[in-house]
Amino acid sequence: MDKLLVHGGATLRGTINISGSKNASLPILAAAILTGEDCIIGRVPDVSDTNYMIQILSALGANVERSSGTVRISCTDISAEAPYELVRRMRASICVMGPLLARKGRAVVSLPGGCVIGDRPVDLHLRGLQALGAKVEFEGGNIILTAKDGLRGAEIDLRGTHGPTVLGTDNVMMAATLADGITVIESAAAEPEVLDLANFLNAMGAKIEGAGTSRIVIEGVKSLHAVQHTVIPDRIEAGTFMAAAALAGEGVTLRRVCREHLKAITTALVKAGHRVDFNEAGDTCTIFRGADPRGCDLVTAPYPGFPTDMQAQMTAVLATTPGTSVIKDTIFAQRFMHCAELKRMGADITVDNGTAVVRGVEQLSAAPVMASDLRASAALVLAALTAKGTTAINRLYHIDRGYEHIDEKLYMLGADLQRVRE
Ligand code: EPU
Repeated sequence: MDKLLVHGGATLRGTINISGSKNASLPILAAAILTGEDCIIGRVPDVSDTNYMIQILSALGANVERSSGTVRISCTDISAEAPYELVRRMRASICVMGPLLARKGRAVVSLPGGCVIGDRPVDLHLRGLQALGAKVEFEGGNIILTAKDGLRGAEIDLRGTHGPTVLGTDNVMMAATLADGITVIESAAAEPEVLDLANFLNAMGAKIEGAGTSRIVIEGVKSLHAVQHTVIPDRIEAGTFMAAAALAGEGVTLRRVCREHLKAITTALVKAGHRVDFNEAGDTCTIFRGADPRGCDLVTAPYPGFPTDMQAQMTAVLATTPGTSVIKDTIFAQRFMHCAELKRMGADITVDNGTAVVRGVEQLSAAPVMASDLRASAALVLAALTAKGTTAINRLYHIDRGYEHIDEKLYMLGADLQRVRE
């Protein structure tokens, strides 16, 4: 199991490229199930989550080739049963459910188990697919969906108690592309990753309007065809490097970003006293650490609000920012595992009821810490950049799930770190 040793105190400067979005790639890879023709997908990040998805597709019978970021998938003959051994490793495997149901009239996917960032039910996914005419049964830990006579369009409100659902919207949207008639999804997730999936599906011949807003209308078509698509930049990877630059940088430039997608993260960093300059095209930005950083309050919200996937990283930034910051996660109220580890490094944080109160300290000090999930591990890496001494971050596989070569990118910016293979 790899660990990362980060020697605190180095200054970051220079330029790196941001990778394609993990969270856009996962449903887009799954959407290849919807056609028997070739799907060529560019800028798929080389992270373990996309590898798991490719393994699932291969196990379902797809022919998959991957070379330098481009994945070619051909699902000529495909089975309806996703193997538990692969599905259990990644919660996002659930997004094969919609496409399998649409293509095969049947989908067997294991019910996702617990997750460290909180209870993550799939009731909204199932409610949406049921509205399209699927029969839902549970057996031996599996969800079995059947639609013997095909799916038919319906009006569906996907609002849950915590707001919209990203992968739930994706699943229903994918299934509806091949349903008979028109589907309207109200309270849809408006995340850029949902829009990227819709663009992919439309390029395959689907008829989707309104993606990227809370109302999506899908007119079912008989079949989908071959497609070539490039995945959008990863706004959370970009945000993580923006946070690193705000903590330990002296002018860090990120290429291949999308300004529009980074609005809430940019606003948060500016509120905390840092500067973010975009070029005119909005695809490159440079972050300058402010001379006088200050604490700020943050509340996570669905897009275009401040993303829950950046909550841990901003908590790490605010841990050494003067003043008191209050950070509330409205989407995953239990997503504060990183705080206990940050406290072991000397942070002053109190967590209660989905809210962290962070009183900025002057400097953190190195300690062996344990990564608990993807974004929590990113937060620990950020904290280690300015901590006194050498921080050992264990269970690095969490970070490898979603950040493409994070250690190499940080090294290119001047960080002093090493991956140790044990
Ligand atoms: N929810 C329900 N019922 C459902 C589905 C969701 O109550 O059927 C609740 C969840 O418990 C949560 C809220 O709705 O409180 C939003 O969850 P959502 O379904 O939107 O999450 P997701 O689609 O499973 C994606 C990202 C997550 C990101 C969330 C929220 C992917 C592969 N995953 O998950 O990304 O945190 O949206 O934006 O796109 C990450 O990248 O680190 C990550 C966890």
